[in-house]
Amino acid sequence: MSVAERVLNNADLEKMVDTSDEWIVSRTGISERRISESDQGASYFGQRAACQALERAGVRAADVDAVIVTSVTGDQIFPSTSCLIQSAIGASNSAAFDVGAACAGFIYGLEVATSMIKCGTFDNALVVGVDVLTKFVDWTDRSTCILFGDGGGAVYMEASDDERGVLASVLKADGGGARHIHMKAGGTLNPASRPLQEGVTPYLFMAGQEVYRFAVKAMEDSCKSVLAKAGMSIDNVDLFVPHQANLRIITAASDRLGLSRDKVFVNVHKYGNMSAGSIPVGLCEAEAEGRLKVGDLVMTVGFGAGLVWGANLIRW
Ligand code: ACO
Repeated sequence: MSVAERVLNNADLEKMVDTSDEWIVSRTGISERRISESDQGASYFGQRAACQALERAGVRAADVDAVIVTSVTGDQIFPSTSCLIQSAIGASNSAAFDVGAACAGFIYGLEVATSMIKCGTFDNALVVGVDVLTKFVDWTDRSTCILFGDGGGAVYMEASDDERGVLASVLKADGGGARHIHMKAGGTLNPASRPLQEGVTPYLFMAGQEVYRFAVKAMEDSCKSVLAKAGMSIDNVDLFVPHQANLRIITAASDRLGLSRDKVFVNVHKYGNMSAGSIPVGLCEAEAEGRLKVGDLVMTVGFGAGLVWGANLIRW
């Protein structure tokens, strides 16, 4: 995993906008977040996380079959962030492509890699989840600037006869909800070369309450579906690693699922919402803390701009 070094805490934000530590902590659970520097894009964090994952797996970059990057904050419109990372880490014999599913990106990426390995397209894959959403934050908008942080993580997966890996996934989308979270500037309808059209800003927009309501239900539904698909129950889950957007959302969804708090991984208080980066960073930290061991059943769930959502059930 690799997160931005610079820490922006709630006291810092109190000096920037009309907010308070008390409001931010009680509404979101976030105490501080990590902010990237101007010369650090998604590939900066992604390549560091990718190198770590390969080192831990004891695999040479040249032996990687696919570099799959899940991100909505690529360094540039094209080429893909996966190509930039592939080159930076020396994965010279791999395919490379991006999967864009916002905060559910890593959920989608893990299933894409699993399916392509299962059907024989690749023998192995490196899946990187990374986002640097603070680049698109309006630092005068108190309703969004408190929420986000920058960083990501990576996992290495390979074909194997044992029962480890992604057992089942649920991937969902509702493009009708695109209006709830978006970033319009810089795309082909509003290219960087032209003055922005009326109503378009160079910042991310989020309708917080709508997203909140959607998120709790989406998390509950996709977790129940993925468990049913695998023929398992919530009691089989050893660790729940949800997308880290807001502690209230995580708590509400965990309670609805009947999960005890000791099975729920949380790090949103120190990183904020790292979008596609939050679940892989959570998996890396959970393993480093000894909360995730070989053979454990881990359930991940994510939701975000699209709207998109989904869950994976993984035998670690
Ligand atoms: N400090 C103090 N007051 C604030 C702040 C702030 N930082 N932000 C908003 N307020 C005020 C509002 O102006 C409003 O004041 P008013 O009642 O006088 O109008 C009041 O607080 C309540 O605002 P709400 O928006 O109703 O606050 P809410 O409890 O819904 O919390 C939040 C807002 C934290 C954004 C919440 O809605 C949320 O977490 N939503 C989900 C976000 C999310 O999960 N996004 C993930 C996807 S992101 C992606 O995919 C890129």
